[in-house]
Amino acid sequence: MPDANVIETAKDHFGGLVEQQLERVERLKDAPSPVDYAGVSPIVIGMLGGDGIGPTIAYESQRVLEQLLAGEVAKGKVEFRNIDGLTIENRAAKLQSIPDDVLEEVKQCHVTLKGPTHTPEKGDGWPNIESANVSMRKALDLFANVRPVRIPAENIDWTFFRENTEDMYALGSDGINVTADLAIDFRVITTQGSRRIINAAFAHAQKTGKERVTIVTKANIVKTTDGKFLDVAREIAEQYPSISWDAWYIDIMTAKLIDTARRSEFQVLALPNMYGDILTDEAAQIQGGVGTAGSANIGTAYAMFEAIHGSAPRMVIEGRAQYADPSSMVRAGAMLLDHIGFADLAQKVNMALDVCGQYERKAVTTGRDTGATTAEFGDYIVATVSDSNLKNTWEGYVYA
Ligand code: IPM
Ligand code: MG
Repeated sequence: MPDANVIETAKDHFGGLVEQQLERVERLKDAPSPVDYAGVSPIVIGMLGGDGIGPTIAYESQRVLEQLLAGEVAKGKVEFRNIDGLTIENRAAKLQSIPDDVLEEVKQCHVTLKGPTHTPEKGDGWPNIESANVSMRKALDLFANVRPVRIPAENIDWTFFRENTEDMYALGSDGINVTADLAIDFRVITTQGSRRIINAAFAHAQKTGKERVTIVTKANIVKTTDGKFLDVAREIAEQYPSISWDAWYIDIMTAKLIDTARRSEFQVLALPNMYGDILTDEAAQIQGGVGTAGSANIGTAYAMFEAIHGSAPRMVIEGRAQYADPSSMVRAGAMLLDHIGFADLAQKVNMALDVCGQYERKAVTTGRDTGATTAEFGDYIVATVSDSNLKNTWEGYVYA
């Protein structure tokens, strides 16, 4: 017979989580409208270096932004702010995934550019605090994780809309060891949370002239939560009659991304958090490695831009941090520029990245001393961004 106390404790735990999520749903129901940066002056950009290779690669992105926005800074329209303290040492000392004072400083900025931060896992020597990424996404309600992957030469132009606040991540640190043998985690999907990400994907498709949105779930197996995501997709799709949509399961989707005959047909993809986490690493690898991919975390009040990948502690331990590819953080910088209203500058950075990373490749990073250093590749990008012929550098280059 199971111990009645054990079951009661588990029920109480679950009850508490349900209460907390119901309150969250209420908050989601009256979401504010997004900030219009046209009316904001100065736009404050916070810079957070992070851990491991973070500060090294974030610095190169900062250089590109500072160069492109120098005029705006001089006019007082844009302000850069360095924010210290989002390091694993400080977070561990304070036992907070984002120390209160750091979060306060982040909230004083409109947008932030954040280097990767170390995510503690059970048994790695650090206190098992929640991931700083996950905390920041929750604290600032950054619900849309937008991850573009483009390979112009192969006609690949994918934009992933990964839901960023729900799914396995919402309660990832709130699972329960019911007994020594039984561990249970919880997965959360809400109507409101699904609507806003799926709507963002369709709106993006419409704005950028794309014809198709692909929804990715495993609704044949995870029937309740993924079933809801798919139901909401049907509802939203009706509001966009000019955009076609289809639904795929995550397993076949991972296969299709490496199907060279079909993959360029996908355009905009919307998916729950965990599938999005995994699929976007695969997509980034196809583009040239996770070091090439940037990630925008967008909410209504705030936005945070970062690399798609982690802090690469192995590279630091092996003494290779100075050979890390800074492209991911530079790409994040391009997304930041686009978000605050400098679409032309963003396009320039994207072109420079594609030219340096995929087409011209005068310097190549390999993550080791066989390739360029982070700083050398950063110099190459800075020089390419400033090249007045950039538009003509790549014949047939298409950017949307
Ligand atoms: C990402 C990362 C994060 C995530 C980690 C570092 C917590 O993998 O941004 O994709 O799982 O979301
Ligand atoms: Mg990931």
